[in-house]
Order: sequence, then structure tokens, then C-alpha cells
Amino acid sequence: MKILVTAGPTREPLDPVRYLSNRSSGKMGYAIAQAALDTGHEVVLISGPVALAAPPRARTVQVTTSDEMYEAVHAWVRDADVCVLCAAVADFRPAKIEPRKIKKGARSSFTLELVPTRDILLSLRDLPRAENDPRPFVVGFAAETNDVLAHAQEKLRAKGCALIVANDVSGAGVGFDSDENELTLIFASGEIRVLARAKKTVLAASLVKIFHEFFNL
Ligand code: C5P
Repeated sequence: MKILVTAGPTREPLDPVRYLSNRSSGKMGYAIAQAALDTGHEVVLISGPVALAAPPRARTVQVTTSDEMYEAVHAWVRDADVCVLCAAVADFRPAKIEPRKIKKGARSSFTLELVPTRDILLSLRDLPRAENDPRPFVVGFAAETNDVLAHAQEKLRAKGCALIVANDVSGAGVGFDSDENELTLIFASGEIRVLARAKKTVLAASLVKIFHEFFNL
């Protein structure tokens, strides 16, 4: 089976030296890519800027901005049986990228106008496909700091994916930049499964097994 995985943060530039980003380390996505490779699958890993070595047998596509990630996903999605969108894509980017470094000058405040980025997960919902060319199973991630289950259920509905993997990023020791995580899986059927706190590598192996079981692969 062919698995497309997105991982890591994106960077949205505001001038030649500054960008907006987030604390995603890419560890969860890279662990999923590795677990899929270890079980004999082909993997395309579309990665934002992270400090991790690319899994040797994955086809890794390095991107920086959310726009680049969008284009890379759409360039590779037609080949994929499962798409796991684990990247922490920026929801907003600066409306304008200044060609020169923004100077502090004498201003007492500075307002930055942001515009929404293109939602990659949502864009896969309505992907046109030929009749005999089935849609890939799409798995989204939800990093939440409160009301994790309710937000994840809403995301599953809104983004039309097969499965949402929710994690609580409010606590220390799990979620962003940590080696461990704790996951709640919400399936389109309504079924909910909890994967108790464990190393991301262990959770990634469980997730790949679950893809087999639920997607009949
Ligand atoms: O709506 P929210 O950004 O919280 O949804 C998170 C999910 O959507 C993650 O799977 C993330 O990879 C994906 N996403 C995306 N493109 C965006 C924003 C989020 O694919 N621009």
C-alpha cells in the first residue's frame, strides 16, 4: 500500500528574515512514516522544516510554506491509498511578504495582517477521482488544548475524513515536541478508540495496524 504522510510545521514568511511557525517537531509524522516502511509499505513523506533525519527508504519531499505543502500533497495524492496529514500547517499567513526586512523605526506598535492558508485536509475531501480510481483514506490530526473530543468530532464532520487522530497539546510531556503522545481516534462510523500514553514510535506502529484493520488494506 502507498501511504502519504505530512509532518512538521510550516513557516510563513513575513519578510526575508522572519516567519510565523509553531512548535511541531515532526516526530509523530516521521514515526508513522517509519512504521509504515517497517511493515513493507511505500511512503511519500512531505515534511516541513524539522531537525530529524529522513527515513532512508521514504521518498521525502521537503517544503517550507503551507502553499508548498499544499502543492506537494496534490502532486502525490493520486498515487496514495492512505493520506495521513500529521503536519501542523499554519492556519494563517501574512497577507503580504515584505521584500525587505521590516524596520522597527519609531513606531510604538505594529499590526500584521493575516489571511487564511489553504486547508490541505479539506481540499482532499472533494478530490476528483475517476470511477475506478478509489479515493484515498484520509486521516487528519487534531491538536487541541481544550474540549479535545468535541473539537475532533466537529473536525471529522467538517473535513470529511475517514479518521481523526486527536491529541491534547495542553499538558507537558505529551504532544508537541515530546517523544510521547496519547491519542484519541474518532472514526467516521462514530467509533472511538483511545491509545494510552506511549512513545510516538509505539503509537505509530499501532496506528499503521489500525489502518489495516479499519480500511481493509
Ligand atoms: O482545522 P485544523 O487546522 O485544526 O485541522 C488540523 C488538521 O488539518 C491536521 O490534520 C492538519 O494537518 C490539517 N491542516 C491542513 N491544512 C491546513 C491546516 C490544517 O491540512 N491549512
